[in-house]
Amino acid sequence: MSATWRRVARATRGERYAEAYAEQFRAMAAEGADVHGEAALVERLVPPPARVLDAGCGTGRLGARLAQRGYDVVGCDADAAMVAVARRDHPLVPWEVADLADLGGTPLGQPFDAVVLAGNVVPLLDPGTLAAAARSCTGVLRPGGLLLAGFGLDAEHLPEGCDPTPLADVDAALDAAGLVPEHRWATWDGTAHDGGGYVVVAHRRPR
Ligand SMILES: C[S@@+](CC[C@H](N)C(=O)[O-])C[C@H]1O[C@@H](n2cnc3c(N)ncnc32)[C@H](O)[C@@H]1O
Repeated sequence: MSATWRRVARATRGERYAEAYAEQFRAMAAEGADVHGEAALVERLVPPPARVLDAGCGTGRLGARLAQRGYDVVGCDADAAMVAVARRDHPLVPWEVADLADLGGTPLGQPFDAVVLAGNVVPLLDPGTLAAAARSCTGVLRPGGLLLAGFGLDAEHLPEGCDPTPLADVDAALDAAGLVPEHRWATWDGTAHDGGGYVVVAHRRPR
């Protein structure tokens, strides 16, 4: 369980934060908002059928969409309450309770073609765990596989109470884990990053 996530989630959404999180995206979709931008980018970069880990899956928004689109998906999240909602709402996808900083003991199956951290998972990691999470996520990627992460870099793009993780720290952690930077965008639709407050990074595990 990420203490950072739980603190932020309870403060912003209350005790029933997992249900509230899922409901927020259901309501946005019902109003016609596109809640599948991350999945669209995954489809462009790593077409189906491919094996994808929805890392920090929350209530399953991304993984469920990818499964619908023909991917072999596993989702994992350290928060059992979030995983319980994912299991209830998307029973055909395997969802595991697992800490991204320590995936070694989790039976996730074959290595992944892509590991995707969507929705501010990176800044919501507990302090001091970024390097371990980068190593652990790299460890479940196949050689040649891609790690994708999107996250806010300033208060405007982060939930209240969540401190930013400097982009340089993320780059350093992914570099130390053995990944090679490949793309950097401002959004999941592929707009070039111009130093703004949100970033999507793609780093590849060398073959
Ligand atoms: C804002 S939610 C995003 C959920 C989902 N990725 C989405 O985009 O809808 C952030 C998630 O990161 C998860 N998280 C934070 N630290 C984690 C860790 N060390 N291991 C696994 N999950 C983690 C939290 O439990 C939470 O469900």
